[in-house]
Amino acid sequence: MLIRSICILGGTGFVGRSLANRLARDGYALRVLTRDRERNRSALILLPALELIEADVHDPAQLALHFSGCDAVINLVGILNERGRNGAGFRHAHVELAEKVIAACRLSGARRLLHMSALNADAQNGPSHYLRSKGAAEDLAHQAGELRVTSFRPSVIFGAGDSFFNRFAALLRMTPGIFPLACAGARFAPVFIEDVVEAMARALVNPDTYGRRLNLCGPRTYTLEQLVRYTAECIRARRLIIPLPDFLSRLQAAVFDFVPGKPFSTDNYLSATVDSVCERNDLDSLGIAPTPLEAIVPQYLCGRVVKAHYDRFRSRSHRNADGPPV
Ligand SMILES: NC(=O)c1ccc[n+]([C@@H]2O[C@H](COP(=O)([O-])OP(=O)(O)OC[C@H]3O[C@@H](n4cnc5c(N)ncnc54)[C@H](OP(=O)(O)O)[C@@H]3O)[C@@H](O)[C@H]2O)c1
Repeated sequence: MLIRSICILGGTGFVGRSLANRLARDGYALRVLTRDRERNRSALILLPALELIEADVHDPAQLALHFSGCDAVINLVGILNERGRNGAGFRHAHVELAEKVIAACRLSGARRLLHMSALNADAQNGPSHYLRSKGAAEDLAHQAGELRVTSFRPSVIFGAGDSFFNRFAALLRMTPGIFPLACAGARFAPVFIEDVVEAMARALVNPDTYGRRLNLCGPRTYTLEQLVRYTAECIRARRLIIPLPDFLSRLQAAVFDFVPGKPFSTDNYLSATVDSVCERNDLDSLGIAPTPLEAIVPQYLCGRVVKAHYDRFRSRSHRNADGPPV
């Protein structure tokens, strides 16, 4: 099937920005829907043939309108935490939106759907609201008979601007001395953002991927403790990292449920009770050699250390970062 134009939901986020860049290189016309155009315009507006459109993606009529004329739709919308705690927010953002996306594809005639899910997503057996709702949304997408659907199930994704290494780096910086770590034994196979979007770009035009659920992992498996120690090493933060026993991890999550912005939650804790690693890595079948994190993470984490050194030198020599000596 020939694909010329693509509508992307969630295209302003970490994955979406890289994916839009990757697809723009292939010359597709891109229509990115966002809830707030003004907030996101600087990230995407410079790409050729990209329209950034403010829309309510939860409104079926607006979805059908914006999908019309598009050959493919990519749904990247996802949340890691909800406002409440009963799963309704996850079901709204994942399951209900997937239903509306499928209905709008049918109405508008878009026939190819790429759906972003997550490793361990499972409607029945997922341990958290996040994983169950991701699983239910993925199942819905694959049950939409007449659509050609491929879903993507990555482990945690790393790259400049990620919310994993950058978040731990920020937490380490603001926690002097002892760093208590919940879920320290949880295992991950972090996958590079450029490998993820390359997989999506290749799958888009590869009929062999129709109907498939692709697991995406990096080349190595690490415990969370190893990843946090590596982050501390990269940013040169000497911290005593103390793995919390399970009951304290759960308690920390229960307390953080009530902290604004939920830096960690009971639902996150439950997601971490299953290892985020691939039995079969589908990057291989797409001809992509997974990139080790050691080749990438220092570039964006340690870069900040170097910049901090420059800033210290500037301030010692009575110069500011932007201008002449002060
Ligand atoms: N990052 C990872 O490590 C990782 C790992 C596994 C799976 N995933 C999945 O990959 C997808 C993209 O992740 P990401 O890291 O790029 O996330 P992100 O940076 O948070 O971006 C998600 C995008 O979805 C939109 N969005 C968020 N909440 C929404 C809501 N309630 N209603 C409508 N739109 C909403 C936002 O767009 P606007 O603000 O412009 O509307 C946002 O730009 C998600 O489905 C996520 O579950 C990510």
